[in-house]
Amino acid sequence: MNILFVSLGCDKNLVDSEVMLGLLKDSGHTLTNDEEMAEVIVVNTCSFIHDAKEESITTILEMAELKKEGRCKILIVTGCLAQRYQAEILEEIPEVDAILGTSSYHRIREAIDEVLDGRKSIHFDSIDDLPKVDISRVVTTGGYVSYLKIAEGCDKHCTYCIIPKIRGNYRSFPKEDILRDAGRLAGAGVRELNIVAQETTMYGKDLYGRKVFHELLRDLCKIEGIQWIRILYCYPEEITDELIRVIKSESKICNYLDIPIQHASDTILKKMGRRTNCQELISIIQKLRQEIPDIALRTTLITGFPGETQKDHEALVSFVQKIRFDRLGVFTYSREEDTPAADMEDQIDEVVKISRKDELMQVQQKIAFELAQKMIGKEVEVLVEGKLPEDNVYIGRTYKDAPDVDGYIFISNTKELSSGDIIHVKVVGANEYDLIGEINDEFTE
Ligand code: F3S
Repeated sequence: MNILFVSLGCDKNLVDSEVMLGLLKDSGHTLTNDEEMAEVIVVNTCSFIHDAKEESITTILEMAELKKEGRCKILIVTGCLAQRYQAEILEEIPEVDAILGTSSYHRIREAIDEVLDGRKSIHFDSIDDLPKVDISRVVTTGGYVSYLKIAEGCDKHCTYCIIPKIRGNYRSFPKEDILRDAGRLAGAGVRELNIVAQETTMYGKDLYGRKVFHELLRDLCKIEGIQWIRILYCYPEEITDELIRVIKSESKICNYLDIPIQHASDTILKKMGRRTNCQELISIIQKLRQEIPDIALRTTLITGFPGETQKDHEALVSFVQKIRFDRLGVFTYSREEDTPAADMEDQIDEVVKISRKDELMQVQQKIAFELAQKMIGKEVEVLVEGKLPEDNVYIGRTYKDAPDVDGYIFISNTKELSSGDIIHVKVVGANEYDLIGEINDEFTE
């Protein structure tokens, strides 16, 4: 059958989508981007924050309309919104034929068969199950870059976060399965692996009795074809000396770390249920910069958490000014039902949340501009991502830029390049978030 797949939400969810696509392709179905041609539509949803829920619901409703009008015979909803609001979806959107929870995505083929047999297909395996799927997934991120999911769920229980309720407790995937997945990706042409999980640094604790993320990284570095390994989603308190050593010593591991800290006021960190205080955050960052001087640090922050005073906000602003993160994302707090923070007093007005976010982004814009200016004159390795429609301008990323969330480097060049090439570039210009470069050398691949 012709299958149209819509993947929403984060990169972890995208990996689940790619596994489902692999399963569907393997059983002879055809993947299509054409809505008119689709006989089956799958929407893999997100429900992390209010806006993501809205996007998921709107998408399901649009697809339900298509089903009424077009060739589509089967509408399947999977992922986090399905897990969280299964009853509501089934009741409110009768066009939905199948619904799979976050631990049941491996049943996608079964779901189609059941619907073809005339039944509704509803599967919610235990939230703490870890589906084992041994299949080549369909890489949807361009062929040369991919996300590698090493664990599912989370048991940190930050008070604002719904993830443990929809994704279960932290479960590491067995090391051999991850290495097999990475090997297949490398065989298919992937050059850059972005390591993801709700939190990567805890890897192995549940399965092997100790954190073995550094060992996994060393094994991943041995895979031929993989040239860049980038570590995302590190909880600050879980960063070990072994992890720092492996980043320092393995040339394939980008000197880049994504450490979501969420806030810097001790009062708010405590209310958020975070395990590090401001001083500890400063110490970890200092240590990382001391050990790996050119490390690029990324973080994310939340403004307007319940009870956040002007003083807390100012503490956060001055922290950002002092630390000077290379990359920064700021979100306004989203009040999620069934989380402890939703019931806290002193919920903050939306206007205040947004103005605090804007202020932080303005502060960061200046820092980002200054840091980018310092790159001028430097030579950097760049992974080519594609060519712009304008004449001979290529777009790529340096080790300081993760896909989708960070900046780009634009390179004018008359030589033919391919996506996935890793080349040497001299930085000749910069704005806040992007760089301009010139090819400095013969490209390496
Ligand atoms: Fe959304 Fe689920 Fe990811 S809630 S952010 S898709 S883990």
